Amino acid sequence: MSKLTDQIKALQEVSSELEPSEKRRQEYLTQVGQYAGEFISQLDEKVTFSNEKATPDAMALKPHKQSLSDLLDLYDREVAAKGIKPASGGHLGYIPGGGIYTSAIADYLVDVTNEYVGINYSCPAGVAIEHELLDWMMDIFGYPRSSVGNLASGGSIANLIALTAARDKHGIKNEKIRNSVIYLSPQVHHCINKALKIIGLEDVQIRYVELDSFHRIDTSDLEGKIKIDKKEGLHPFLIIASAGTTDTGAIDPMDRIADLAEEHNLWLHIDAAYGGYFVLVDSVKEKFKGIERSDSLVVDPHKGLFLPYGLGAVLVKDKEAVYHSHVYRANYMQDAVAEESPVHPADVSPELTKHFRSLRMWLPLQLHGIEPFKACLEEKLLLTRYFREGLLKLGFKLGPEPDLSVSYFWYPAEDENTFNRALLKSIHEDGRVFLSSTVIDGKFVIRMAILAFRTKLETIDKALNMVETHLKDLLSKH
Ligand SMILES: Cc1ncc(COP(=O)(O)O)c(C=O)c1O
Repeated sequence: MSKLTDQIKALQEVSSELEPSEKRRQEYLTQVGQYAGEFISQLDEKVTFSNEKATPDAMALKPHKQSLSDLLDLYDREVAAKGIKPASGGHLGYIPGGGIYTSAIADYLVDVTNEYVGINYSCPAGVAIEHELLDWMMDIFGYPRSSVGNLASGGSIANLIALTAARDKHGIKNEKIRNSVIYLSPQVHHCINKALKIIGLEDVQIRYVELDSFHRIDTSDLEGKIKIDKKEGLHPFLIIASAGTTDTGAIDPMDRIADLAEEHNLWLHIDAAYGGYFVLVDSVKEKFKGIERSDSLVVDPHKGLFLPYGLGAVLVKDKEAVYHSHVYRANYMQDAVAEESPVHPADVSPELTKHFRSLRMWLPLQLHGIEPFKACLEEKLLLTRYFREGLLKLGFKLGPEPDLSVSYFWYPAEDENTFNRALLKSIHEDGRVFLSSTVIDGKFVIRMAILAFRTKLETIDKALNMVETHLKDLLSKH
């Protein structure tokens, strides 16, 4: 045998470790399945937040092989037991979602089959699944089917894609940048500010529009600002509104904003990353009026459809505007992209190779149907009301009636900010339920964001009970 084949065989012996036997695969699956089962069934008994620090040494890569059971123990001790637990129903901070189990099943399948869904030719059915989901979203938001869309890794990248399209549609580059104007709410998510910097629009004129008492964009202020800017020879080109702000859950008056965008020929982008799927709930559907008139929108299945982290969607009406920055053809891909239809996901995104993330949304929708998702969303709206009513009875002051399921509260003590900060600290030390905080008009407030699919009536009762205990404790010390 040649030296070369000997060498190859020797390497093969070592590398074959990467393909475990069927028996070993089953053992792995059983162990992970058991761990996942126990993790889920114990979620309610465990804390949602622990501020215990990680032990970085424990996570160090070892020079020798580890067993899966040891690694699962380590995972449980270090990853699952520390920090904020997004899978828990007690996660009422930031924007939770929970992470439904059937998405995890889809991810397993995706990783084993490792389909390539950046271009149509490589996995036509996988790309068709992405298009099916995008078409469904176009329908629920009243977008024409001629729009394009993309399943990105989250809301930040989805917003980046939409804002790039707005920039390219209006040709905002070179000397035009400094004279161009963007209008947005001070409550807009900070990923918008990041995206504008990333796409070279750091030096545009940003106008923060005034808000009404519900934290929604004040459209007369918006109109006034656009008119002044035009009069001064500036170039207004983009309005960014939100359908569900992160801090206060407010839905901006999109229909009126769309009137202004049309009248002044501005691109209207809606960030509905958090709130968008509430459009499925009849009782609040009307609040989304006007969203269908926007030029682009973002909605996150890993928030409002309770998927595990890793899926945000963007829809854009003007395909050419998106193609301008995203379509590239490399020689080595000449066979792969010969067919231009249906749209290649890689032509609507900075990603070429991408995770086959559509399956984690498609499989649950097929397995469960849409009704449980709608019920879960409506349930969250009612739980928000229930939580607020309970807090009111405990003597808390509440932020304005929220449009959706994010709200805030504070206790009207002397030295309010210090008192409420101390209250939240005790709540965090307790950890059974996790709440976050924000600053509204200079005031420190405690914030609730009710969106995790595992948040139930019992969770809110637990939260109220916990808040009451810590409130009483704190009051007794004052
Ligand atoms: C309204 C809104 N937009 C955008 C984002 C950013 O999304 P992601 O964290 O998925 O990148 C968030 C995250 O909470 C959000 O609430």
